[in-house]
Amino acid sequence: MSLKWTAFAAVSVLAGCRGWETEERPVHLIKNMDTQEKGKAYRRDTTGLFADGRMMRAPVEGTVAQGQLGDDLLLEEGVDEAGQPSKAFPAAVKSAWDEQVSRGQDRYQIYCLPCHGANLDGKGTVAALALDGGPRLTVPPPSLHLERIAKDMVVGKIYSAIRAGVNNGNMPSYAAQIPVADRWAIIAYVKSEQMKKDASVQQEPGGVVVQVVTVATAEAGAVLYKAKTCNACHSTDGSKIVGPTFQGLWGRSEETSAGAVTVDDAYFKESILQPMAKIVNGYPPAMPPQQLNDLEIESLKLFIQTLK
Ligand code: HEC
Ligand code: HEC
Repeated sequence: MSLKWTAFAAVSVLAGCRGWETEERPVHLIKNMDTQEKGKAYRRDTTGLFADGRMMRAPVEGTVAQGQLGDDLLLEEGVDEAGQPSKAFPAAVKSAWDEQVSRGQDRYQIYCLPCHGANLDGKGTVAALALDGGPRLTVPPPSLHLERIAKDMVVGKIYSAIRAGVNNGNMPSYAAQIPVADRWAIIAYVKSEQMKKDASVQQEPGGVVVQVVTVATAEAGAVLYKAKTCNACHSTDGSKIVGPTFQGLWGRSEETSAGAVTVDDAYFKESILQPMAKIVNGYPPAMPPQQLNDLEIESLKLFIQTLK
């Protein structure tokens, strides 16, 4: 036997012959309390106490861990008794408002800032890349100060954006990363920032109307173009953002997934209410259906007609 193997054998003997499985206790000179009768969680049950031979027991059937019952619809799903997105925060969030806001800020900076930006203005690093031909998001992350979001999005809807994502993954779901309590903390922070910027944003908005159009005008259309965030995807100066530019749009001929069209009233209305009906060639089917009434659509048309 070589010297190496002799040394190995000697060490093995001294070390108590560890290295293979045995039911025998190892040679153990100073016993302390190691050899007393007891069960250890990850050991086989040698006491015969349990028929299945496991020392660690499974929880009793029907056991629910603290805080994981999931029977609070408002807290867990953000909906009220009628099943609608809630306008109100859960009581627990309201009663510890300041703590919630500061926890929310902390979490926002981890999970939302990369896209929605430090000032909630939609200018996170990822958003910048998305618009600069870098790794693209399908659509740019919006500013969370947009009236549409700050005034009209009730807290239950923001909750749903975090939990389920937005528009089939344009914004992914953060349910796996952010536990329920932190989702609400983030919403408290977002709401408090929105309120700082614009005092008319209420903590629990009741569906404020952004822009009431009573007469269709190009001016109202210009306001709607921004208020309804058409400007996030459509330019007015000929440049291509996500969708086709509005410059020179009226009367233009387009190739679409449903053949050639000319931009007229019927096509314009359809493009807004059912964007999937005809997809302009060369563009992704990324336009979300818009909820606009006839006066609003007419105003946008008048506005676009000024963009020659
Ligand atoms: C990977 C980028 C990204 C991250 C991170 C992200 N978002 Fe978004 N978010 C988006 C995009 C893109 C949209 C627009 C989606 C669309 O309109 O189709 C959006 C939309 C939203 C909206 C508006 C939803 C609507 O219905 O119009 C809210 C509110 C929102 N995000 C909140 C959050 C919060 C809160 C966080 C952090 C938990 C977060 N987002 C993290 C990309 C992101
Ligand atoms: C998230 C990005 C996005 C937003 C927001 C958006 N659009 Fe679009 N839109 C697109 C894309 C992409 C297309 C081209 C693909 C298609 O035809 O659906 C498009 C197409 C259109 C067209 C047809 C254009 C053509 O050249 O034939 C019209 C009209 C239009 N959008 C109007 C609007 C109006 C009005 C708004 C605001 C109320 C709006 N869009 C908001 C992305 C967007």
